[in-house]
Amino acid sequence: MLATKQPVLRRFWYAVMRIEQLESGPQPFTLLGEPIVLFLDAKGEPAALEDRCCHRTAKLSKGWCRNGNIVCGYHGWEYDRDGKLVMIPQFPFEQPIPDARARAFHTKTRYGYVWVALDEPLRDIPEIPEDSDPAYRRIFQFYDTWNTAALRLMENSFDNAHFAFVHKNTFGDIDQPRPEKYEIVETDYGFEAETLVTVKNPPTAAKISGTTEPYTKRHMRNKWFMPFCRRLDMEYPSGIRHIIFNCATPIADGKIQVVQLLFRNDTEADCSTQELIDWDAAIIAEDRDILESTDPDAIVDMGRKIEKHMPSDRPGMLMRKRLLDLLQEHDEEEVPKPMAMDASALERSHLAV
Ligand code: FES
Ligand code: CO
Repeated sequence: MLATKQPVLRRFWYAVMRIEQLESGPQPFTLLGEPIVLFLDAKGEPAALEDRCCHRTAKLSKGWCRNGNIVCGYHGWEYDRDGKLVMIPQFPFEQPIPDARARAFHTKTRYGYVWVALDEPLRDIPEIPEDSDPAYRRIFQFYDTWNTAALRLMENSFDNAHFAFVHKNTFGDIDQPRPEKYEIVETDYGFEAETLVTVKNPPTAAKISGTTEPYTKRHMRNKWFMPFCRRLDMEYPSGIRHIIFNCATPIADGKIQVVQLLFRNDTEADCSTQELIDWDAAIIAEDRDILESTDPDAIVDMGRKIEKHMPSDRPGMLMRKRLLDLLQEHDEEEVPKPMAMDASALERSHLAV
């Protein structure tokens, strides 16, 4: 499934950048292959337009803001937050401005990020109740571009079989390759998945987990929000909650912007922001290294490029199925088109896990 070719994916919200990044002026971003420009309007709210001037096609992101509008850097044509052309400085004052515009997209600010939906959103931005809970602090952990597919990161998040191998140098135990099973409950937005996992607790993790035991049992109550957001809610026996929220924002096919927020119910004195960033940075670097080696285009379609499965792949298989259902509900074909495969082969492929 090539994310940029599936129109229904334009109907979800994606976290694109920190709102603070817009204080220095317009910023470019590519979302699902669509070049956009983000800027702040007169009220300080984010606006998103196609990154192309209707005069000679210059990128509007090369320009600057003026009274909440965006000015093209080439000849100064000016657009408002809805993309309407409001000023052509070369025209005499009395000459009417032609009715022209740059396409505008939906924007919202949530959790310190600007979120964009390219077309009418199908559902709201995922809820993170801890964001407004005073018992929790919010930490901006990571904002990086990865060369992998968004669904690969989502699947990896619910794949208990990779800890022992990918994370053998952090919390995984290479001597315990058999993964714990998830209890999965499907929801309208995706699914919830619960499990208890025993992981290594090296001395460097003592403040992260709140214990010096060599192993800890994490209670994981995770959620997948279609298509590309996930919540990893880890509770340690100490009562510390380590809640990671990710958005794998698709930039292009096989390229994502990884946004990672962390919520913790302890204080800076218990474990500093920097310690939490350093701990998760080592882990996420391990995931990144292996995910960037995977094929970004062997995902949903199991007929074209065969992948074999094992029981711990079940959450990922469910994601694939739900995304195929989503395409079907919106009368979309998977792109590129799968090779002919009869329904029973697809069914068997799902049953294999
Ligand atoms: Fe934008 Fe000319 S290209 S004003
Ligand atoms: Co991992």
